[in-house]
Amino acid sequence: MSDIIVEGLSRLEGSVNIQGSKNAVLPIIAATVLSNGRSYINNCPYLSDVLASIKILECLGAECKFEGNTLTVDSTNIDNYCVPDNLMREMRSSSLFLGAIIGRTGKAVICNPGGCELGPRPIDLHIKALKSLGATVNEYNGCIEFSSDNGLKGNEIQLSFPSVGATENIILASVTAKGRTVVRNCAREPEIVDLARYLNLCGAKIKGAGKDTVIVEGVKQLNGADYFVMPDRIVASTYISAAAITGGKINIKNIYPDNLNSIISVYKEAGCNFEINGNSLVVDAPNRLNAVSTVRSLVYPGFPTDSGPMLIASLTKSKGSTIFVENIFENRFRYVDELKRMGADISVEGKVAVVDGINETYGANCEATDLRGGAALVVAALGAKGKTKITKIEHIKRGYEDIVRDLSYLGADIKEV
Ligand code: UD1
Repeated sequence: MSDIIVEGLSRLEGSVNIQGSKNAVLPIIAATVLSNGRSYINNCPYLSDVLASIKILECLGAECKFEGNTLTVDSTNIDNYCVPDNLMREMRSSSLFLGAIIGRTGKAVICNPGGCELGPRPIDLHIKALKSLGATVNEYNGCIEFSSDNGLKGNEIQLSFPSVGATENIILASVTAKGRTVVRNCAREPEIVDLARYLNLCGAKIKGAGKDTVIVEGVKQLNGADYFVMPDRIVASTYISAAAITGGKINIKNIYPDNLNSIISVYKEAGCNFEINGNSLVVDAPNRLNAVSTVRSLVYPGFPTDSGPMLIASLTKSKGSTIFVENIFENRFRYVDELKRMGADISVEGKVAVVDGINETYGANCEATDLRGGAALVVAALGAKGKTKITKIEHIKRGYEDIVRDLSYLGADIKEV
């Protein structure tokens, strides 16, 4: 297993292209299960979670080919409805296949995805919604069996929390259900808009994606489509954080800048300048960031929980103290102990972290605790004096196609060994 080695304090400069979005492509891959035909998923990032999704598709009976950044999926012969235990465990978001499999086959069997490194990750909202669409649910030996002998039927669903995954699962289950489904208080993340765009190209009738009420008129069947996946806003935010901690100036290309408003506004307060040119964004950071007023992670369009770790890492050398409140996940601060190894002054109590900026941090041996926590270590290492070694980088590879390549292009002294 390889490690990442960073020699800190190189100022980032230059341009970087942003990969396709992990959180958009995973539900889109699940959505291919519903189509009776071939889909071309372009701008598909090469990530371990994508490879795990392909294994699930193949196990269900689809034919897949992943070349360059195009994933071709032929779902014509899908007939299996069970996702085996080992594949469910390989990827936490495998529960996204649920709605699509029931929609396609009338049944689905998955093992309970259980917890993850960010704390418990229940799927009670998904299950409740699928029940209200007419699925019956049986749980045994850690497996959950869903069936809908007479097919799913549209219904009115009010989510008690705008969960991203539950919203996606409901959309997936309802596109081929009989009649109309209305989902209220749904998540408004841009990745949901991307999923709906793909499904509508396949022949689905979804309205309102990106708003808090989504309406789906069921159709008999879906075709395949040729689709280009949206850029990854969390990867873009990671490179903003990386530029920010090194006092750098970089051009981030192939993004939708509007999706980054909450990030841009925090970094403006920290002293960065931004220039938006169409689908590119130039970030120009001061030598040292300012502390900012309290940042709270919230559902979109609020500050994304996934960008919190990289923001905190970049503020470790800021002037002053910043409070960060994590409102989405229970156990998201495990990487903080690793940042402390670099000398960072951060205290955590419950869902609140206080970052007291210091003049200098130094390289250390650290372990990636999770995907974004791992990215935070990379950001912090860029601003630390001396050498940092980051282990367990398989977490980082779940979401970054090649963070070492991208940051090297920008002038960082970083390598994978
Ligand atoms: C998705 C993203 C993840 C991001 C998160 C929040 C993907 C593949 N992952 O995860 O990167 O951090 O949105 O923006 O898109 N919850 C329940 N019951 C449920 C469902 C969720 O209690 O049935 C809770 C979760 O435990 C969590 C919160 O709701 O505390 C948010 O979860 P959710 O919005 O569902 O996130 P995911 O779809 O899992």
